[in-house]
Amino acid sequence: MQPNGKVGSTVLRVGAAIGLGMLLSTAGATGPRMIDTPYVAFSYNDLGMHCMQEDFSQFLILPPYNTVHAQVIDRTRGEPHIVEDGLNISYSFMGNTRAADKTNFWTYDQALLGVDLVPDIGLTGNGMSGTMVRTPSHDWKMDGIPITPVDDDGRENPYPLATITVRKNGQVMAQTQTVVPVSWEINCNLCHNTPGVSPATDILRAHDQLHNTTLEAQQPVFCAGCHADPALGAPGQQGVSTFSAAMHGAHADRMDTVQLAETCYACHPGVRTQCQRDLHFAEGITCTACHGDMAAVGDPARRPWVDEPRCSDCHSRPGFEFEEPGKLYRDSRGHGGVMCYACHGSPHAMTPTVTEADNLQAINLQGHAGVINTCSACHRDPPEDNFFHSRED
Ligand code: HEC
Ligand code: HEC
Ligand code: HEC
Ligand code: HEC
Ligand code: HEC
Ligand code: HEC
Ligand code: HEC
Repeated sequence: MQPNGKVGSTVLRVGAAIGLGMLLSTAGATGPRMIDTPYVAFSYNDLGMHCMQEDFSQFLILPPYNTVHAQVIDRTRGEPHIVEDGLNISYSFMGNTRAADKTNFWTYDQALLGVDLVPDIGLTGNGMSGTMVRTPSHDWKMDGIPITPVDDDGRENPYPLATITVRKNGQVMAQTQTVVPVSWEINCNLCHNTPGVSPATDILRAHDQLHNTTLEAQQPVFCAGCHADPALGAPGQQGVSTFSAAMHGAHADRMDTVQLAETCYACHPGVRTQCQRDLHFAEGITCTACHGDMAAVGDPARRPWVDEPRCSDCHSRPGFEFEEPGKLYRDSRGHGGVMCYACHGSPHAMTPTVTEADNLQAINLQGHAGVINTCSACHRDPPEDNFFHSRED
């Protein structure tokens, strides 16, 4: 795979999709705004990288399941106004319209999860294109999109672009594009490489030997059937470790056998895919600086998927808490009720990123990559007061 070559070619497609006619610059006191539509839409994937497997015939760690959010701002009034109803927001992926011919997930869904899904339809009933729904947190979303990292021509691309189109009474009010990152580069085979058996068989056998289970005879195995996994809403079995605690805890003392600059990439995507590709990565701040080491992530006292790093672990700003209390970055709002992601991007892909595709949205909306710091992206009239970061001034 050549992510960069691929990304380069999507730049051309973006111009075509949005329509160069819309790239009108509205220069003002607050700087240029590139796309001049009545509304402005910001869209992001909830995770900086969603991991899934290609092959589900032996076990399931994570299924195809991406979740895309959008927030829409009306610029036609004096002050920006977050639009919460009356919209039709559609999403689709150019050149990536199918999923069931790219992974065998739809062959094993019944055996693994007890549901027989229609091919190309994901676990929440959503497909590769559709209409977003309102959330209680003042934005719109589409969850469980079953996208894979392979386009319709068979090329691998972990950074596919979604086109989000906002309509009101049938009229296009705004459009944007965002990366919906997905990868199946989960490299268990770096260590589980016993000759003559698949990595998955090696893993199931090791589990059976060490924990007196009979998983090899029960394939396909749903790991979260026993190990609780909040990401899948799976309660697991009483007394068995959570999936995250089991994986990170058990492997904490096994990592010195892999020769990787970032050992987390032994299992997280990856060596080729850039799971973390944000401004912190560019500054040399990687996984363990924020998350701690394997033992810290595997600490049974941690709540997986809930107890995550916070911006305030490192940044400080008098009077600003960064994330809202009790909420993750991806669910928090700042300035005037705008979601953090609208200005900063997805976790692990906070702009400016080292990948071109993740910078496109900001470039299209304000003419340059990085945090949305161009007031006129949302304010039609130049604001009378200074920028404030917190939700309420
Ligand atoms: C850095 C090397 C390494 C990587 C990468 C790795 N493993 Fe392991 N894993 C081991 C070793 C070593 C064992 C112990 C094998 C034994 O004792 O037979 C093990 C054992 C296991 C076991 C048995 C249960 C236990 O007590 O640990 C499971 C399950 C397992 N690995 C799953 C995985 C999965 C799933 C992945 C990929 C997402 C993975 N491993 C990646 C090294 C690794
Ligand atoms: C039938 C129930 C069951 C299933 C299914 C299951 N496990 Fe386990 N697993 C256990 C039990 C029981 C233990 C040992 C006790 C514990 O970790 O809480 C264990 C232990 C582990 C450990 C070692 C934890 C540690 O702290 O040493 C790993 C890693 C692990 N499982 C991974 C997996 C993976 C990966 C899958 C799917 C391929 C899987 N398990 C499926 C029951 C299960
Ligand atoms: C041996 C394989 C393996 C390695 C190495 C690994 N992870 Fe993971 N990690 C997983 C798996 C599998 C999941 C998915 C667990 C789930 O679905 O709950 C996961 C999920 C996570 C999560 C989300 C769940 C949670 O606990 O909040 C975080 C955060 C995480 N990993 C961080 C790290 C960091 C940081 C490193 C490097 C220090 C690392 N991982 C190395 C296998 C691994
Ligand atoms: C600059 C700090 C930072 C770095 C570096 C970082 N993370 Fe995270 N990570 C976070 C934050 C913050 C969250 C919670 C984001 C949210 O969901 O709102 C998170 C969440 C996660 C999750 C859970 C899914 C999610 O998005 O909530 C996984 C898995 C994860 N990180 C893995 C990694 C891995 C692997 C690396 C290195 C390749 C890494 N992280 C590097 C800050 C960081
Ligand atoms: C492990 C510490 C750490 C964590 C956690 C962390 N950052 Fe950073 N961040 C840094 C460092 C170091 C820099 C680069 C030096 C600087 O400019 O402050 C930086 C730079 C930045 C910048 C660009 C510099 C600026 O001031 O404009 C932004 C934006 C940013 N971080 C956002 C975030 C957000 C959002 C979060 C939480 C989701 C977060 N960071 C979590 C350490 C961290
Ligand atoms: C309207 C756009 C906007 C929103 C919404 C927004 N930010 Fe920012 N953020 C900025 C800008 C612009 C900067 C660069 C510094 C500056 O000019 O104040 C920044 C800088 C940061 C930094 C770097 C450190 C610092 O203090 O400068 C962090 C961390 C950060 N923001 C976190 C957040 C979090 C968390 C949220 C959501 C609760 C959020 N931001 C919402 C625009 C925004
Ligand atoms: C991502 C969209 C967005 C961007 C970019 C943005 N704002 Fe705002 N701003 C809002 C929203 C939404 C409100 C809330 C309006 C309301 O009170 O209903 C707001 C309110 C304000 C207010 C208070 C009400 C007013 O209009 O006087 C000020 C002051 C302000 N913004 C200043 C700024 C400045 C300065 C910048 C550029 C550095 C900026 N904003 C960039 C969305 C944005």
